[in-house]
Amino acid sequence: MEFDRFFSVAGSRLKSSKIRELMKLAGEPGIISMAGGMPDAEHFPFEEIRKIIDSWDAGKRAAALQYGATSGYPPLVEQIAEYVSASGVETDGQAILPTTGAQQAIQLLTRIFCDPGDTVLVELPTFIGAVAVFIGYGADPVGLLMDDQGLIPGELEKKITELKEREGSPKFLYTNPTFQNPSGITMSQNRRDEIYSLCSRYDLPIIEDDPYYELYFEGGPEDYRSLKARDTDNRVIRIGTFSKILSPGLRLGWILGPTEVVARCETAKQSEDACSSSFSQVVAADYLAAGYVNQYTAKMRRIYSQKCRLMLDCLEREMPEQVSWSRPAGGFFTWLTLPGHMDSEKLLTESIKHKVAFVTGSPFHVDGGGRNKLRLAFSNSNPEQIEQGVKRLAGVIRSMI
Ligand SMILES: Cc1ncc(COP(=O)(O)O)c(C=O)c1O
Repeated sequence: MEFDRFFSVAGSRLKSSKIRELMKLAGEPGIISMAGGMPDAEHFPFEEIRKIIDSWDAGKRAAALQYGATSGYPPLVEQIAEYVSASGVETDGQAILPTTGAQQAIQLLTRIFCDPGDTVLVELPTFIGAVAVFIGYGADPVGLLMDDQGLIPGELEKKITELKEREGSPKFLYTNPTFQNPSGITMSQNRRDEIYSLCSRYDLPIIEDDPYYELYFEGGPEDYRSLKARDTDNRVIRIGTFSKILSPGLRLGWILGPTEVVARCETAKQSEDACSSSFSQVVAADYLAAGYVNQYTAKMRRIYSQKCRLMLDCLEREMPEQVSWSRPAGGFFTWLTLPGHMDSEKLLTESIKHKVAFVTGSPFHVDGGGRNKLRLAFSNSNPEQIEQGVKRLAGVIRSMI
């Protein structure tokens, strides 16, 4: 049967891209992949999870294996509140909704805020998974330039005023302020003040998606104080996730924000998946309650920091001088800029022949730019793979230059 004429408008938009097809090759044996933004699989806190499960009484066993309320497992909601309070976020007067990953949080928020044709503001570059959601709902993501301090306030103000005149106010600003995926850039504390006060002045909601903020290699938590911690007029909706502080396989994140926003997300979630995995929620609640999270993040800060240092050293040693890259202060990624005439998609096709893979720049750019950019993840490769991977990639770049 031929299905094309049966697909909805939204369904028809869901075509696999050429890049995705190439990325499938990145998973083949023998390829060193610095493509996926994945945590280090060698260090998942499996023993801690085992201890947690072994300690369950009949009540917890039942809660873990039973359907749960859409609003989440109450002890988990309490633990998340305690956990985020420790990072300076005020939870009084706010609501928390556990979600099926941060990805579902983005989706629920887009669903409650956006009609087809609405504009939303994003960084250039921005998280690919958020772009896919915005486009899926028919929204129009408009990109804002960044520099090494993050989103440029003048850009934000210019775009808000331009859009207001042409097509009405954007629905929100979506930002990933700390060790950004893909650029590794962190919005400085001054910038956060400026961006927050501009959004206040123009009355714009902010969606702050901040999965990496605890994985810093430099400074301390005060250097990565969130927009939500500045939120005197209750306009920031903050997305968190267990993917980088426990395990992405549990598929668990949360939304923290104004009660009326979170209540609507909860209603939207009822028809999405009824509830996030009860099993994951009981594990995560006990993981936070036992204090394992602080041990794990402290360990992973050291490990990721060493991997990042190694990747930056290898880049320094191997790359031709026409190539530059970001020096992240935390997180999983560095972002490479190739000479202007080079196309990272062609480079990927060549690189896969040489058994090394990365993610090309253009899917992260909603303005069609980023062709000479690429993202390298250091998080899930071992030292040998990082050395070999960068060496192979540099060789292919040299041959193409
Ligand atoms: C900025 C950002 N937001 C959201 C996500 C999705 O996270 P989750 O695994 O919690 O769905 C990621 C994952 O890489 C991310 O980098």
